[in-house]
Parts: sequence; C-alpha cells; structure tokens
Amino acid sequence: MNFEENLLSYLPKDVVKGILGAQQKERVNSLILNTRKIKSEDFVALFPKVKKHPFINNVFTYDKNDYQFGKSWLFDNGVIYLIDTSSLLVSYLLSTEKQLVDYFESKKHLLGLDMCSAPGGKLISFLLSSTSINFEFIANDLNFKRVIELEKNVERQGFDNVIIANNDLEKIDSNFENTFDLIILDAPCSGSAMFRKNEQALKERSMNKVLKFQSIQKRLLSSAIKMLNKGGFISYSTCSFSKEENEDVILDIIKSHPDIEVIDLSNNKQFYRHSSLPQAIHLFPNLYQGEGQFICILHKKGVRQERQLKKSNKSTQYDNILKELNLSFLNTKLINEEIFANNNIIDLSKLNVIKPGLDIGTYNKGIFTPSFHLAHFLDSTSSIKLNEEEFKSYLHGDQIKKELNLKNGFYTVSYLDINLGYTKYVNGQLKNFYPKGLRH
Ligand SMILES: C[S@@+](CC[C@H](N)C(=O)[O-])C[C@H]1O[C@@H](n2cnc3c(N)ncnc32)[C@H](O)[C@@H]1O
Repeated sequence: MNFEENLLSYLPKDVVKGILGAQQKERVNSLILNTRKIKSEDFVALFPKVKKHPFINNVFTYDKNDYQFGKSWLFDNGVIYLIDTSSLLVSYLLSTEKQLVDYFESKKHLLGLDMCSAPGGKLISFLLSSTSINFEFIANDLNFKRVIELEKNVERQGFDNVIIANNDLEKIDSNFENTFDLIILDAPCSGSAMFRKNEQALKERSMNKVLKFQSIQKRLLSSAIKMLNKGGFISYSTCSFSKEENEDVILDIIKSHPDIEVIDLSNNKQFYRHSSLPQAIHLFPNLYQGEGQFICILHKKGVRQERQLKKSNKSTQYDNILKELNLSFLNTKLINEEIFANNNIIDLSKLNVIKPGLDIGTYNKGIFTPSFHLAHFLDSTSSIKLNEEEFKSYLHGDQIKKELNLKNGFYTVSYLDINLGYTKYVNGQLKNFYPKGLRH
C-alpha cells in the first residue's frame, strides 16, 4: 500500500487530495521566543517582517529570504528556538487544556519525562510556557549524538530544571513505576509530515516500515503508562499521518489499561478528528499551516501522593561561590570537578545521566570558572553591557578593551540586555569565554 492508498484507507478522498496538494507547496518557517530574554514587542521591533501565529503566544512565522534565524546569535543564545508550528501544538495543548493546567497549577514538585526528547523542540516550547513552573524534567533520548544537541539547546535557553539522559527506558521502566506526572512521548515514526522536506523519505516509505514503527510505538507507550504517576498525563504524538501509528496504537493500548482514559481535546476547525478516536487531533497541512502532527493526551486515573523533597543542607567547599552568585538556595553537587544543581526530586542512580541539571561551572583546586549555561540561566541585571562593536568582537571571540570600575574577576556580558556568556575582567581587558563552536 503506497502513501496515498494508506491515507485513502481511512480518510475521505477530498481530505487526502488536500493533504497531498498542500505537501507540494513551500513550507512555512516558524520560531518561538524565550520571553525571559526578550519581550515579544521588542522582537517585533527588531524584525518587523515576522508574522504572529494566529493563536499561539510568542510564536512567529517568517520568510527565509527576510531573516536567517537559524544562523543568528539569537538562536545561539537561546532567545529563539526554531520549530514547526505543528510541533508547537503539543506544548500549546499541554499548557492550555483546562484539565491539565488546573492539575499542574495545583501541585508542587511535579516530575516530567520527555521520553524521546532530542533535539528538544516539544519540551523547550513547553518549558517556555508558565504552566511548566512547578516541573523538573528528565529529557531522555536513545541516540547519543542527538542527546548532545538536546543538551546544547537546553543550555542556551538557560533552563535549570532539566536533567539530560541517554537511555532505552523500555528496558528500565520497572525502576520508575507510577513516577512521572507528565510524560511527553513524541514517538519515532514513519514521518509523513517530513515528506515535503524529504522526497527520499517518501520513496523509502513502506507499509512494513509503518508497522515496524507501530510496534516500537506500542512498546514505548506501554512503558510510558507504567512510568506514569496516578493522576498524571501522557501526551502521545507522531508526525505520521497513518492511522496505524496513531489511532490504532491508542485504541489498542487502552483496551488493556482500564485506568487510562483519553482526554477530549478542544475543538478548532483547523484540527482534523477521525471518528475512530474523536478526542485526539490530526494536524494536516491543508487545514493547519504546518508540517503535520497527530496528538492524543491520556490520563491515568487515581490520586497522586504529594512528593517530599530531600533538600540537602550540607555545606560545601564552594559555599562562598554560591553565596556570591546569590545561588545559595540551590541544591548542588560536585561531580568530576563540575558543580551541578537540581531539586533532588528523583534518584538518578538508575539512569544513564549525561547532565544532572543546571551546570554552574567547574571547580578545581579552589578555582571556579562559571559556565555558558549559568550565564544563560542568570538575568542580565548585573552584566557588563556591550555596545554594538564590542558585541561583534565578543561573538568573534576577541578580547575587548574596556576600562570599568570593577574588581578583576568573572562577569556576564550582555547585548540588548541578553546575556551572551562570561568574560573575565582583568585590568581593563575583557577576556573572551564565548564557546569556540559558536564564534563567528
Ligand atoms: C520524533 S523524534 C523526537 C523529536 C523531539 N521530541 C523534538 O520535539 O525535538 C523521535 C526521537 O526518538 C528517539 N528514539 C527512538 N527510539 C527511542 C527509544 N527506544 N527510546 C528513546 N528515544 C528513542 C530518536 O532518537 C529521536 O530523537
């Protein structure tokens, strides 16, 4: 069965025609703003040709001939994240559906898991919404190379509530039974929504492939249900249009899990609902401007136990550093000469952890060097402000001459009130600590 026949096996002819026609057109580029770094109106003033998304806050579409945001310092410094508007619907629903928002806002110390997280789009956009405020997240992916990209993306945004991990959770799910209050499962799939970008993917698509992905999706979803806390939610999404990877996966799994119910998502004429599972939504490129996505949210019945935090009050050899940075409230650990902070909300010993939270910096024989991640976590109130020329030199990796009435030492530097990283001020010179891979 080819792609078109597969669609025709469950969708009306006119819908299939619409999907295939829309896939011939140019794709739309979009981004989400980190409003902790820049206000929406300031961004629009800088880039007046961007267009506001019709209903998702702080999301803009743009023409690549006007702006090349992917190569810009704004991306490198986590001011923007480039993401397709269909992908954004996952975080949009997680942060606007009333049942979820009421739940997340009424609980403390929520623990989230993004099972297939890399490079981080769904999670990053959720963390940029205010609904995520009570969460600590584990962002996991099986593919190590992609995990490193995920790690960089989390660092740039400056999140302090994300633990990066690299595991096949299916194999260790029994360590985490009834643990996570929200699980994002953006499952690997045959990727119909990618066919516009990638003709090769369309050629290589086969029903065998679809069914192979279906079996992975069923296993991952079954693990997710096991690891989901009572009262918690799973968002299941794919960028496939085949019902085998979407409705069939959900309908099959709920048969054997009477404690799982499907949340009826808000209606919108841009969403397509199939009669076999009308609570879930499809985004098709002819109805909603984006590449396409299937989204279904599941809920586990039962009552969540309040989580108690194990705060460590132990004093450390670097207490004075945390005090100087006004970070004494953080729960920190020194691991291989690197200071990390997290809420100690989960026992990490059963996971292959790549980064256990906010990286504060290295501490070696009493010498502290703050990290790029920390510069992006902190706001720019006490940063050294660079003018346009100094900003360009900083991005280039140069030392900058600047006489300031400051003690020698480390400071964050900012441009337009956006932190770029650290500098070491030494007798009228700003030494450059901008990461080598980002210099241009
Ligand atoms: C659709 S992509 C995820 C995109 C990501 N959620 C985002 O929004 O940027 C699917 C991901 O699943 C990962 N993956 C595949 N099998 C996995 C498994 N068994 N456990 C964890 N991750 C897996 C792949 O490496 C890939 O990064």
